[in-house]
Parts: sequence; C-alpha cells; structure tokens
Amino acid sequence: MTVPLLDVHDLTIAFPAARPVSNLSFSVAGGETVAIVGESGSGKSLTALALMRLLPGAARISSGRISFDGHDLAALREPAMRKVRGARLAMIFQEPMTSLNPVLTIGAQIVDVLKLHENLSRQTARARVRTGCPAGCASA
Ligand SMILES: Nc1ncnc2c1ncn2[C@@H]1O[C@H](COP(=O)(O)OP(=O)(O)O)[C@@H](O)[C@H]1O
Ligand SMILES: [Mg+2]
Repeated sequence: MTVPLLDVHDLTIAFPAARPVSNLSFSVAGGETVAIVGESGSGKSLTALALMRLLPGAARISSGRISFDGHDLAALREPAMRKVRGARLAMIFQEPMTSLNPVLTIGAQIVDVLKLHENLSRQTARARVRTGCPAGCASA
C-alpha cells in the first residue's frame, strides 16, 4: 500500500462553544484530486485552514493528526511551516475576487506563484502549469 501524501486522521476542530469539525478522516495520494463537498457551514473552510495551520485564534485542533509527506504538520515549527505553505500546500481563499486578479488568466497567476516560491524561470513555470508536472518530469 502506498503512503498517502496527505493523511488527515480523526481531526476535530473546536471553538470554545462549538465543535464544527468532528472526527474527520481522509487521505490524498500524490497526483490525486479530492473534493470535499458539504453544505455551507459544514466545516470545509476550517478543515482547509487547519491543514495550512491558519485557523482563527479562537479555534484549536482538539484531536487528530494531520500528516503531510510523512511529517506531522502540528509538530512543525512556524519557520518550517512557512516553507511548506505556498511551496507545498496552498490555498485559494473564498471570495475569488479578492484572492485572484480578474484581469489575469489563472495560468499567469499560478506562474507568478511558482516563480516566487520555487525560483523558476517564466518558461519553466509555464511548462509546469501546462503539464502539472514537477520539475524534471516534463521530459520523461
Ligand atoms: N472564526 C469563527 N468563530 C466562530 N465560529 C466559526 C468561525 N469560523 C467558522 N465558524 C463556524 O464553524 C462552522 C464551519 O465553518 P466553515 O468551515 O467556514 O464552513 P464551510 O466552509 O463548510 O461553509 C460554521 O458553523 C461557522 O459558523
Ligand atoms: Mg467555506
């Protein structure tokens, strides 16, 4: 059995007076796309924020484990987490008009992120956006 890239196990997110996410488990393999679907207020955004370690101050992970590429995300110090964020884990926040620029194509905006976080040339970043391949796999 292959080890999942992302493994969320028994995740519970609690506010002082509410527990919007209870005992959630799922995993994502490398190259796999997983969509989490649920009604408004069911905890999708909080789950994504927990993965990014960007939960609002009043919220805490009261149980569970999030492992990414073999690392326990809860145990990473903030400087290490900052390297993961953006480079390996990214989030497009709700309200796309404030997170994406409507006058640029989505591809151009992803190219900008790759140039910034991975120091890629524009040409390499564009190839990566077109193929979805990490560096080195485009020629394989
Ligand atoms: N900062 C917050 N303080 C208190 N409750 C919150 C906060 N953010 C979200 N919630 C509550 O947590 C629940 C899940 O919210 P959310 O993850 O945003 O849902 P979804 O993204 O699925 O619509 C909702 O009931 C919401 O009201
Ligand atoms: Mg949401």
